[in-house]
Amino acid sequence: MNTKRTMNIGHRGAASEAPENTLIAFQKALEQGADGLELDIHLTADGEIVVCHDSTVNRTTDGTGAIRSMTVAELKQLDAGIRFDESFRGERIPLLSEVFELVPKHIMINIELKNTYDGAVEGKLVDLIRSSDRLDSVVVSSFRHQCLARLKALEPDLKIGILYDELYSHRGYADLSPAPLYSVHPHFRYIQAEDIRDLREGGYEVYVYTVNNEDDMRKMIEAGVSGIITDCPAKLQKLLTGK
Ligand code: G3P
Ligand code: MG
Repeated sequence: MNTKRTMNIGHRGAASEAPENTLIAFQKALEQGADGLELDIHLTADGEIVVCHDSTVNRTTDGTGAIRSMTVAELKQLDAGIRFDESFRGERIPLLSEVFELVPKHIMINIELKNTYDGAVEGKLVDLIRSSDRLDSVVVSSFRHQCLARLKALEPDLKIGILYDELYSHRGYADLSPAPLYSVHPHFRYIQAEDIRDLREGGYEVYVYTVNNEDDMRKMIEAGVSGIITDCPAKLQKLLTGK
């Protein structure tokens, strides 16, 4: 039986209560008891790694455009808070390095790589994780499984995890067989309790996303997942600790 407590992982921070993928959302998740954070990354025109879910800034900021065609200086002009709520006016799209500065090193950070950028991002990501001394606490996940294999080739100690949904469910292992996996990250609706058990017994961590409903959280805890990725870390914390 798995006796380790289920990890509480804030999806894009505490995305139900603060603008997703901003420093304030990460701070809030930690205050609410999260012991892990999930975030998404993209590459800018000047080769920096920023934290944002979409490849454009259109949905989450007051600007428009593709992150890949904008510099950090341009991106930093944008307000990443007001679309969520006026009270968050002034929040900015963070650099990944700024998240590393904010978050204590013992907190697990699950970095989701959204795009391979034709191989332009992997080296930069590995360098940043190494120079920030985060190899122990970072897990990089992606739906783009070959990209994980490339990361692993660059840094064998990097922890990688495959993301999958209903479309990817039975492909990931074969795609990645030469690159040992640390974890699997299934959508919670597409994994059964027996699969979770088998994976855990096989030595994999299992991090399910995105679980926001209390009943679903309970089912996942009972099924023995390693961690739950949620927009609502406060709700999960209450379930896990009673507080
Ligand atoms: O990493 C889990 C989850 O974030 C994957 O989907 O679209 O919310 O990034 P998405
Ligand atoms: Mg994500």
